[in-house]
Amino acid sequence: MTLTAPTSSSAAPAQKAAAAGLPMIKLKVKILRFDPEQDKKARWVTYDVEAQTADRVVDVINEIKWYQEPGLTYRRSCLHGICGSDAMLINGRNRLACKTLVRDVAKDGGTITIEPIRGLKVEKDLLVDMEPFFDSYKAIMPYFINESPAPAAERIQSEAEAELMAHSSNCILCACCTTSCPIFWVNGSYLGPAAIVQAHRFIFDSRDEATQQRLNIMNQNTGVWRCRTAYNCTEACPRDIPITQLIEEVKRAVMYQQA
Ligand code: SF4
Ligand code: SF4
Ligand code: FES
Repeated sequence: MTLTAPTSSSAAPAQKAAAAGLPMIKLKVKILRFDPEQDKKARWVTYDVEAQTADRVVDVINEIKWYQEPGLTYRRSCLHGICGSDAMLINGRNRLACKTLVRDVAKDGGTITIEPIRGLKVEKDLLVDMEPFFDSYKAIMPYFINESPAPAAERIQSEAEAELMAHSSNCILCACCTTSCPIFWVNGSYLGPAAIVQAHRFIFDSRDEATQQRLNIMNQNTGVWRCRTAYNCTEACPRDIPITQLIEEVKRAVMYQQA
């Protein structure tokens, strides 16, 4: 996406905040940068930034792009933890830059490190190729399937039935989980936790009729049995989805289907 920079005559937000008397902190922001047209391998570049403690990391990255380094490349869109586009490694942990407050990752005079998420090809700087991630998503048939005649009104679910898919339907496909999974790092054919969470969402939807097909996909050697229950994915999820628990539920559903 194209980021719109403020006009050159406008002051940086940090300068405005400082002028308004808001408390500011000084930070060093180390970003792992890679330009395929110039670099053989990624290199760390450090930027000096002033920020408010209530700023988010994405605000700091925007400030660097708009006032210091226009070529810095990354994704972001909604800025409110909804679109899932700004997943990155912040101080060594997968997080959404728009959901991470500066005060939670650095103190005055401290350093924030920012790297692209792992396991996907880096196109430029913090921008990775998401195609393999979405190929896995497509593989689980992420759409409602029901060939029965539609009822006169809506397809009713009880509260208990809706509860079964309450966690998995919260997923925003940010890839924080899949790209923190050591199994995915060493074997890109593993569908990964995000695709399994999405499969869970339909497998446990009482209105969907393709449960058997999805369980068969989960039972393949690219599916749930690759998971070694290491919990990295659950710790990385910005939506607090209990991913490992959902993977276990899908494993049990596969086993019951075979019993
Ligand atoms: S629990 Fe499974 S899917 Fe999650 S990080 Fe560990 S191995 Fe990967
Ligand atoms: S399960 Fe959580 S970490 Fe994984 S893609 Fe969905 S929202 Fe992101
Ligand atoms: S920009 Fe949309 S989730 Fe962060």
